[in-house]
Amino acid sequence: MNSVLSGVVKYLPVLAAVLFEIITTADAAATNGMMGAFNCSQPPKFDNFDISKCCRLPNINLGSVVDKCHKHVKSLKSHNANYPAYAHVCYPECIYRETGSFIDGDIQMETVRNFLQNNIEQRDKIIVPTIVKSFETCMTNIKNTMQARGIKSYPKIDGLGCSPYASMVYGCVNAETFLHCPPEMWQEESSCNVAKNFALQCNPLPHVPLPMI
Ligand SMILES: *[C@@H]1O[C@H](CO)[C@@H](O)[C@H](O)[C@H]1NC(C)=O
Repeated sequence: MNSVLSGVVKYLPVLAAVLFEIITTADAAATNGMMGAFNCSQPPKFDNFDISKCCRLPNINLGSVVDKCHKHVKSLKSHNANYPAYAHVCYPECIYRETGSFIDGDIQMETVRNFLQNNIEQRDKIIVPTIVKSFETCMTNIKNTMQARGIKSYPKIDGLGCSPYASMVYGCVNAETFLHCPPEMWQEESSCNVAKNFALQCNPLPHVPLPMI
């Protein structure tokens, strides 16, 4: 039996990676109206500070879905035991699919909204509108970017049975939610504020690299 605890997923697990592996050029600073205080090729050093703790993670009861998707990802040929299952490119699609939020190759916003509203713990409900807004912003941005590149949809990755689309949305939603974290869930610490300002300046939407095809 799956306890509520093991059904709790961290919505922002890959955040640090998303924020700091994707360093864009300084051009972003010029176009987003900020002062360009950072040199985007020189991300601030945080030593062992855990950036993912800056926006408190909402507890979400995903029931048996987490176990199911961990097993699914571990069964794939590309599974690498050195990485957590949630970091696998097919993990987000599995989570969305198993919660009824991913149908016919796209994320069903109405289902996502209801799911978050019904399954995020009461004390964390304040973040639901932020996450919903992040989904909307990210899906719009990713689709526009794809369209601009003449990409209709991403095909399934050979041998894995998932397309990278859901994981792109997932990574973007994590980063976007971090940037718009409700004050009630934000850790007022200088490292957190530096990380946020750096990301605002240097990691523009969609926050994740979109594969070329
Ligand atoms: C930003 O950092 C890079 C790498 O250290 C350096 O080559 C570049 O000159 C710096 N740009 C500015 C504007 O300081």
